[in-house]
Amino acid sequence: MERKKVTIAELKQKKAAGEKITMMTAYDYPTAVMVDQAGIDAVLIGDSLGMVMLGYDSTVPVTMDEMIHHCKAVRRGTKAGFIIGDMPFMSYQVSVEKAVENAGRFIKEAGCDSVKLEGGTEMAHVVNAIVKAGIPVCAHIGLTPQTATMLSGFKVQGKDAESARKLVQSAGALEDAGAFMIVMECIPSLLAAKITKELHIPTIGIGAGKDCDGQVLVYHDLTGLFERFTPKFVKQYVNLSSYIKEALMQFKAEVENGVFPGPEHAFSMDEKEVDKI
Ligand code: KIV
Repeated sequence: MERKKVTIAELKQKKAAGEKITMMTAYDYPTAVMVDQAGIDAVLIGDSLGMVMLGYDSTVPVTMDEMIHHCKAVRRGTKAGFIIGDMPFMSYQVSVEKAVENAGRFIKEAGCDSVKLEGGTEMAHVVNAIVKAGIPVCAHIGLTPQTATMLSGFKVQGKDAESARKLVQSAGALEDAGAFMIVMECIPSLLAAKITKELHIPTIGIGAGKDCDGQVLVYHDLTGLFERFTPKFVKQYVNLSSYIKEALMQFKAEVENGVFPGPEHAFSMDEKEVDKI
């Protein structure tokens, strides 16, 4: 049976009913098709694509045009999942006007259903302006990779009472600003549980324990397609890299020793026709 398009109301309804929400990253058409067929609720075109697809050292260099290009492909492969486009570094920090304009590109050009941006209380006015323009915003707090240097690296956030209080305040401010959902990355489970309980909007955890309203992982981490490093919070469900490398080595060997292509992979022609050439 064809799935119906997931809506914000349904995501909120899931929280209210205590049903878990699933979110997965995707960056291209074939992945989007598989994510959609798996019945995942929301698909995030994360700026993590800078690292796992484009080979950058961090998410910082990712541009608006790169994001739009990948979002369009995911849009074409997604029938039901709620699509979230990740706003890249410096696409929403320079001015509120620029933020609204860039958020609009995700919706108008790429066909996303919403955008995501990183930051706490200091970004609430930007979230509010984008929402007022009619674009749903998913917030992202805790470890915010675009500003990891400011956080002194990729570390768990909110471990002491003071920083935890700031995250609780940020979550509240972002909800008040109109965010429809909030991603919480790399924060202690107890803090994530407290925020999840206090908010009316759904929380999606990544390295934030099991008590969030839903969970997200990076597709390349879950499938073992990114080998540079694996964060502690990742569960690798399959190691596709090893299968793919094995297939590539078999192809190389079979071409080199004449096994591939066999007659079943080739096209025939009457020999008389060859003589006439
Ligand atoms: O860019 C991304 O993939 C993300 C997720 C890790 C939440 O922001």
